[in-house]
Amino acid sequence: MSRGRKSDARTNAVILKIGGSVLTDKNRESTARPEQIRRIAAEIGAARASRLVLVHGAGSFGHHQAKEFGLKEGLNGQSIRGIMPTHNAVRSLSDMIIGELYACGVYAAPVHPLSSCTLKNGRIAHICMDVIEQMLASGIVPVLHGDVAMDTARGIDVLSGDQLVVYLAEALGAEKAGIGTNVDGVYGGVRTDVSGEGTKDFKVIHAITPSNLGEVKESLSGSGGVDVTGGMYGKIMELAELAKAGIPSFVFNAEKPGNVARFLRGEPIEGTVISGD
Ligand code: IPE
Repeated sequence: MSRGRKSDARTNAVILKIGGSVLTDKNRESTARPEQIRRIAAEIGAARASRLVLVHGAGSFGHHQAKEFGLKEGLNGQSIRGIMPTHNAVRSLSDMIIGELYACGVYAAPVHPLSSCTLKNGRIAHICMDVIEQMLASGIVPVLHGDVAMDTARGIDVLSGDQLVVYLAEALGAEKAGIGTNVDGVYGGVRTDVSGEGTKDFKVIHAITPSNLGEVKESLSGSGGVDVTGGMYGKIMELAELAKAGIPSFVFNAEKPGNVARFLRGEPIEGTVISGD
């Protein structure tokens, strides 16, 4: 990555992503988990974090639509019809989150990637950082999310919240990034039972650094574990890049009450830290 870390004195931005599986019922199209959204908004409000950028996943507000219209195939006669159904779905989730944040005294505002970001072959080429920086300078929490986005090579593609986290953290020279998921951290180890019931054989890896990254990669991409850890592998590869730029990230369970607030306050938190040393 070439964006590098800013040497700006205001380098205390924090990027927090909450995964779609925490905020929505992934098995039921466009079904939110309002009690989770409310609790997380309350924790963000109570932590009084300054210079926070919130990113959220789409969960069942977007993945179903993106699949139905084949958005990963690039722009064609079928996928073009799916742009607004997909965007509208994830935007409605974003509206709910922003509404709850407001109710908790957090002034948040949307920065929808469809309208503010371009990709090239699925990777972020540009984000309107001036809008985000101005919001941060004004005490407003920018809220971004996984979205369908314009792609200069493919026409359109699906942008994940994880990619947004890494880009924003680097562009803002963030202090740290947090990935709130529905598991206790990054699991590694040998999975002996491939029936789908064997996750108990995994253990949380508490720290990922350049010295154990190779080993972690191997255990995450191990044949039996692909269905469980496929998403996590991509995340870790992105976060390891961020660690190289000197920005640590934390993967933790955002379903456990108190964890989001603990992360924002810089308190010890159960999970996985990915850092450069
Ligand atoms: C996906 O975003 C975006 C769309 C499908 C439109 P993410 O990849 O960040 O969402 P989650 O966290 O997996 O739900």
